[in-house]
Amino acid sequence: MSLEELKKQIKETGNVPQHVAIIMDGNGRWAKKRGLKRTEGHKAGVKTVQRVVRLAHPLGVKYLTLYTFSIENWKRPKSEVAYIMKLLYNTTRSELDELHKNQVKLIATGRISGIPQSSRMMLRKAIRKTANNNGLVLNLALNYGGRTEIIDAVKKLVKDVKAGIVSERRISPELFENYLYTCELPDPDLLIRTSGEMRLSNFLLWQTHYTELYITDVYWPDYTEEDFCRAIIDYQSRERRFGRLTNKSR
Ligand code: IPE
Ligand code: IPE
Ligand code: MG
Repeated sequence: MSLEELKKQIKETGNVPQHVAIIMDGNGRWAKKRGLKRTEGHKAGVKTVQRVVRLAHPLGVKYLTLYTFSIENWKRPKSEVAYIMKLLYNTTRSELDELHKNQVKLIATGRISGIPQSSRMMLRKAIRKTANNNGLVLNLALNYGGRTEIIDAVKKLVKDVKAGIVSERRISPELFENYLYTCELPDPDLLIRTSGEMRLSNFLLWQTHYTELYITDVYWPDYTEEDFCRAIIDYQSRERRFGRLTNKSR
């Protein structure tokens, strides 16, 4: 099927995931396969980000969360980390006008204060500039770790309990969610991971409790618009039961 046919099918079927989260994996292997440095893979991965960001909103996706840099990624060689941070700076700078023009609202999730200053400043600028846009919400998970997020939330909650703002009786999943970095976002409906690994790698541990999973072997730099459409079409055929029985499963 051509891209246009895939898009048409998505529109006709309806029930498009509101929030898609992606573990953009395989940049390094993509580069290695070509005899290139790992950093070339990260550079090529930015092109895929541009493709997916442009495509998501017209398809009906409202929120797109991209796992851009995990807390564990600091364990990589310094030079690779430095390259990724510089790429973040350059890409944010060069894409800002285009994002703004397309009504994209940029936000970030994670311990943003731990990002090197220049990249952090550029990111803040982009977030501020696009704050009132009403198109796609593009959420970059940066210096993000699911466990750290939960611990940070617990600490904030304990503070509120101690201050008498929240009573222990009221603590529930619904209340707890308000303390997470992602408190303004709905849980992801669909989680895509490229390059075939069957794990979450500390991504959105709380939020993915009922998320539909879709894993493809394609390396992130090779990931196309068609691949993204196919993941959505697969999602559209799923039956989300949330523990209940439905007419189909009865
Ligand atoms: C994903 O690609 C990008 C980041 C984690 C920043 P990888 O760099 O993990 O690529 P592989 O998994 O080594 O192929
Ligand atoms: C997850 O990929 C992090 C990002 C995509 C930013 P990794 O490549 O770091 O995950 P592991 O180490 O293979 O689990
Ligand atoms: Mg990887």
